[in-house]
Amino acid sequence: MNNNLVVFGAQWGDEGKGRFVDYLSAQADAVVRFQGGNNAGHTVAVDNKYFKLRLIPSGILYPHVLNVVANGVVVDVKGLFKEVDNLKKDGISCDNLVVSDRAHIVFPYHNKLDELSESKRSASDKIGTTKNGIGPAYMDKEERSGIRVCDFVNENVFPSLLKKNVEAKNELIQKVYGEAPIDYEALLEEYTALAKRLKPYVRDTVTLLNDMVSQGKKILFEGAQGALLDIDFGTYPFVTSSHPSSIGVPSGTGLSPKKIDSVVGVVKAYTSRVGAGPFVTELFDETGDFIREKGGEFGTVTGRPRRIGWLDLVVVKHSALISGMDQIALTRVDTLAGVKKLKICVAYELDGKIIDHYPADLETLSKCKPVYKEFDGWDDSISKIRKFEDLPDNVKNYVAAIEQVTGAKVCMIGVGPNRDEAILIKNPYDL
Ligand code: GDP
Ligand code: IMO
Ligand code: MG
Repeated sequence: MNNNLVVFGAQWGDEGKGRFVDYLSAQADAVVRFQGGNNAGHTVAVDNKYFKLRLIPSGILYPHVLNVVANGVVVDVKGLFKEVDNLKKDGISCDNLVVSDRAHIVFPYHNKLDELSESKRSASDKIGTTKNGIGPAYMDKEERSGIRVCDFVNENVFPSLLKKNVEAKNELIQKVYGEAPIDYEALLEEYTALAKRLKPYVRDTVTLLNDMVSQGKKILFEGAQGALLDIDFGTYPFVTSSHPSSIGVPSGTGLSPKKIDSVVGVVKAYTSRVGAGPFVTELFDETGDFIREKGGEFGTVTGRPRRIGWLDLVVVKHSALISGMDQIALTRVDTLAGVKKLKICVAYELDGKIIDHYPADLETLSKCKPVYKEFDGWDDSISKIRKFEDLPDNVKNYVAAIEQVTGAKVCMIGVGPNRDEAILIKNPYDL
């Protein structure tokens, strides 16, 4: 039995992590977000009712599951309560939600600085962030001036910490960007009220999670973003400011790497990317438009059209290597239905040589040409299928190629967005 599973995005985010975390949550005791913040947009669909989750883990629909926002996350408290309030309207109590005392808080000055620093970048340097203050909040954490949840809810220390931060940020906002300063008193009043509301949710999640592991409970770690947005291993600087790969779990939760039993990479049957940066298999033709429209590939958080391309297994292998990916949850096989000839990129051609690793430097990457294998397509009838053996041979061939190139087994296939529109090949909890 695999007690503790990591589910991470093996491409550039929006692979369908939320829907598979929800799917597996039925068997879990806790679902844990370990990095990122409300830059994430995770969709869970049950009987065509869509839940868009950003900071709240995707196990929240199950009352028996403890949903943990762990220390590696940066928490926009206002955003968090907006989510809580929306879920409550749908009859979901959120009583099963806890927030780490060691997580850092995102303040409005982080959002402001995110926006201002993006606006200062030249057109070719713009990262295309979600403008949720993620980079600036992690900058403060690393710089050791950030405000942690434990300090935020402590009225003896919060006012002076906030004052120091507001003063420092106002220097930047006024002198570098020539913008109006942040009003400390108004911010203090608003955030003191939010701190009071947050207090009942705050826990020492390091002890909590380690105790759960000792008791043999099942923990599901829910990655946000994707491995190619990893600050160290992604397409730097066109990345996010955390570790979406499984390597983010130990530092983002306080659980040792030895506690992870298995790693599931969520792989979309094609590739999408929102925001700027390299994309070797990007499609600029009518096939790309067809997939974007059919799949409704527009950002959950920003509404931006997602860039679309063929499945790039050089990317997936790179993710697999870093995260120790044992299994694959393959999503959106149904979205590809109707495309007559499909392509999978199995290697890159660089200066006349074939390479199968993902280069670090963007200049080299821009010279890489995809080496494709072609596959015959399938039709929409696959959405009704619930057993692997009933799938058409063309889908099976596509899946076999993914397994052969990546060396990981496909354990689940998504044939629609809803909870039940999935084919379970092997339960990831089984050894
Ligand atoms: P996440 O950020 O990785 O959780 O993914 P998002 O929720 O941002 O984007 C994935 C989108 O694909 C959502 O709209 C899901 O409802 C949808 N989705 C997930 N799996 C499937 C699938 O197998 N088929 C189809 N058609 N849609 C899917
Ligand atoms: P989920 O969890 C897709 C992208 C942004 C931008 C870059 C940096 O839903 O898969 P940031 O705001 O993090 O500083 O932006 O990362 N990005 C995502 N792309 N899905 C996400 O999350 C993303 N979160 C951030 O578009 O390119
Ligand atoms: Mg998303």
